[in-house]
Amino acid sequence: MCGIVGVLSGEPAVPLMMDALRRLEYRGYDSAGVATVTGDTLSRRRAPGKLSALQEVLEREPLKGVSGIGHTRWATHGPPNLENAHPHVAGRVAVVHNGIIENHAVLRAELKAEGAVFESATDTEVVAHLLDREISGGATPQEAMARVMPRLTGAFAFVVLIAGEEDLMLAARRASPLAIGIGDGAAYVGSDAVALAPLTRRIVYLQDGDWAVLRRSGVSVFIGDGTPVERTEQVSTVSAAMVGKGNFRHFMEKEIHDQPEAIAHTLHAVIDPGTGEATLPGPLADAASVAKITILAAGTSFYAGLTARYWLESIAGIACEVELASEFRDRKPVLPAGGVAIAVSQSGESLDTLMALRHARTLGQKVLALVNVPESTIAREADGVLLTRAGPEFGVASTKAFTAQLTAFLGLAIALGFARGHIDEAEKRRLVSALEGVPSRVAAVLKDVSRYQSIAHGLSRARDVLYLGRGLSYPIALEGALKLKEITYVHAEGYAAGEMKHGPIALIEDNVPVVIVAPSDGWFDKTASNMAEVRARGGRVILLTDAAGARALGEAADEVVVLPDIAPEVAPILYSIPVQLLAYLAAVEKGTDADQPRNLAKSVTVE
Ligand code: G6P
Repeated sequence: MCGIVGVLSGEPAVPLMMDALRRLEYRGYDSAGVATVTGDTLSRRRAPGKLSALQEVLEREPLKGVSGIGHTRWATHGPPNLENAHPHVAGRVAVVHNGIIENHAVLRAELKAEGAVFESATDTEVVAHLLDREISGGATPQEAMARVMPRLTGAFAFVVLIAGEEDLMLAARRASPLAIGIGDGAAYVGSDAVALAPLTRRIVYLQDGDWAVLRRSGVSVFIGDGTPVERTEQVSTVSAAMVGKGNFRHFMEKEIHDQPEAIAHTLHAVIDPGTGEATLPGPLADAASVAKITILAAGTSFYAGLTARYWLESIAGIACEVELASEFRDRKPVLPAGGVAIAVSQSGESLDTLMALRHARTLGQKVLALVNVPESTIAREADGVLLTRAGPEFGVASTKAFTAQLTAFLGLAIALGFARGHIDEAEKRRLVSALEGVPSRVAAVLKDVSRYQSIAHGLSRARDVLYLGRGLSYPIALEGALKLKEITYVHAEGYAAGEMKHGPIALIEDNVPVVIVAPSDGWFDKTASNMAEVRARGGRVILLTDAAGARALGEAADEVVVLPDIAPEVAPILYSIPVQLLAYLAAVEKGTDADQPRNLAKSVTVE
């Protein structure tokens, strides 16, 4: 995984690449590097850590050249240090790479036996050595690629720069995304079109297995060992604007506060605000014939899927399963004819989710993408797209994209339920109106976050924290625990409240914080019993509930956060906000980097 960029321009390449890399930093920030070629000289600058560290190196030691490649890394092979930072160089060849060369060990052994000396522990370096071996042996760069590509296995994308070749870049894509940008007497490569947006909107998306030879005058695309193919150019609609943090301390804080808008925009993209009518996206258009829905996702998007299952079953009356993409893709699930798979992904680039989408298709399912990024790979490969309208999300921990996914899913369940005759007009109206009431209630919660400060302080100092919920609140408990652990590094577990007695209850001792997500809905009384079990063992109960819940149970909790009254069906969207706030404020208390927590990346493009 990682972000990669390449530039053949008339202007200095480094500032253009640094801007593009800033747009790609969501893909990893373990190290960064750039290389340029001037005449016969390849030069590079690299630094461990975030892009800002590379910027400092470049200020001390500037890099000239109008042709270059750049990289921001999420470490897979080899620790995140200087020697493993890309670009990797062998002889005349420099490479930046995203993904994994799975047969790197065999190739490394072969190259070493011939005398190659490796500088890093990365899988990437074999590509540089293989190409250099061919070129040193007299092959042209194009011939070298044609020979090397069939030797590589795995899911990857890479860009190559060669000493003495100021008007040439080579690029390849197998599963990992890669976009080529066509400029006026310039050519660019980037992991996505957003990275290239300030440079050009003319994009050629490479397909799986493609490789390309780029010159300022144009691009030629090939497959396999060198068969030329045509790939059409399209005009990208992605915005070049760099979104700032405004007056917020972190993107995550801003994105938490963006939610009233993100939810409202998403809702109105699914349900017509005038008529209350919903339109069903392509693969679900024939609602009555949908045999089953299989939701495929990773991380926070998976928890959106778990929530959606309740809605799709109870409101739409459709059989539904939710699958972790990384597990689904290697199984042989038995899926019915007429089934639809929904690939859920903020970025639209998570490789496991993409592979799961492809797998679902081979199993005879139509595929719908529920994504936040319109031109993403998952959106482009699906049979239909339902867009969340959360706007760009930069915080690694997903917030507004999650509540937008929930909103889209509930809108979809209502539309499907009505089209299938599972709910009547009155029930549809009730649910649509409940959904329309969500943005103002979210705004009310965000108006005063001081209530969360002292609780967050306690969580930031805890060793273990449990999150419990039942029914529709169960996925929110999972999401709350994920948020806390990923940005504060405090161990947190989310559990179905009823399952607590089968294990996690052993963790409860004096003052272990237990966050209980419990609006006063049909599951409330049972959750109350589980809360009593926690209290009886000395756990410190933090109850997230509404006024009625507080009246019923307030005395029995150590802390009660009272949220606005809301229909139970839409409560998960509202109850996401306090768990996000608790995690965010705990991270601020602890001083961890909420936007770029260690070891994580926003979009995970390795398997
Ligand atoms: C990473 C991110 C998470 C995200 C997950 C799935 O782990 O850190 O915030 O939920 O990937 O990403 P996707 O873009 O597919 O929703």
